[in-house]
Amino acid sequence: MKRMRTYPPSRKVIAVLAAALLATGVAACGNSDTGGSGGDDGTITLGFSQVGAESGWRTANTTSIKEAATEAGIDLKFDDAQQKQENQIKAIRNFIQQKVDVIAFSPVVESGWDTVLKEAKDAKIPVILTDRSVDSADKSLYKTFLGSDFVKEGRLAGEWLVQKEQSATGPVNIVELQGTTGSAPANDRKKGFAEAIAANPNLKIVASQSGDFTRAGGKQVMEQFLKANPKIDVLFAHNDDMGLGALEAITAAGKVPGKDITIITVDAVKDGMQALADGKFNFIAECSPLLGPQLMDLVKKVHAGESVPARIETQETTFTQEQAKEALPNRKY
Ligand code: AHR
Repeated sequence: MKRMRTYPPSRKVIAVLAAALLATGVAACGNSDTGGSGGDDGTITLGFSQVGAESGWRTANTTSIKEAATEAGIDLKFDDAQQKQENQIKAIRNFIQQKVDVIAFSPVVESGWDTVLKEAKDAKIPVILTDRSVDSADKSLYKTFLGSDFVKEGRLAGEWLVQKEQSATGPVNIVELQGTTGSAPANDRKKGFAEAIAANPNLKIVASQSGDFTRAGGKQVMEQFLKANPKIDVLFAHNDDMGLGALEAITAAGKVPGKDITIITVDAVKDGMQALADGKFNFIAECSPLLGPQLMDLVKKVHAGESVPARIETQETTFTQEQAKEALPNRKY
């Protein structure tokens, strides 16, 4: 019988086998408890889904997040949802597929997140909510929520008006420019403002409609308000940009903003602060967009498996015309 001759494995075969073994090991690491692939060098990958670019606030928030990620050495995968929930859901699913280490997002609207958040949880990828929250009953679907108290912002705006109109003897007609329908800041600012003005029965909201947080939306809806309501005393706009758009409509209608119509907004971005200092706005409740550094800190902590507070509230203030004049020269955004 002819004997089979055996050959020792060549160097090439050994190299191929070693590479295959290494690849299996890396894939196994990628499926670890933190869920992410993580860089070989320990770099954390963060998938971030942003609402869009609807306002000055949003632009400042995006800059803060991008700069803070670079500063913290975090690999940021940034997605702009263009104000559409379906785009955000798609982006989150892509992040899950890419096995990022952490997902953070600012939800366009409050409802409808349970399914995709469950998918992230099943993939063992921690989720951080930033700026806006969701109304999910299951709080285990995300690690923490970093952002403002929007109800408080609405309440502060309303309380200032109650104070200003304390000696009013007749009706004070208010029009309200709401933010994006279904979004947390629109829902909450409306609620906080309504609660505060209930203290004076003379204060009445005569019209309330969404301007989608944009200047164009604010202008267009204010034009309609002015046509439909012969007596408007106050405008409460859920953000500076809509207030700035409304200024154009008010001026075009021959009225003097800040005098004929009292204007109250939220945010305190530079353009809004300028309008306040110029006497065209009357009061702003601040909403800070500078969330980047705190967010990156949380990303590192949740990736390391450290526990973090369930809610981290942004510290904010309010501005009158005089205070805006003082603060403007040092305003960063
Ligand atoms: O979620 C924060 C809000 O979104 C800001 O107040 C507004 O300007 C932005 O569009």
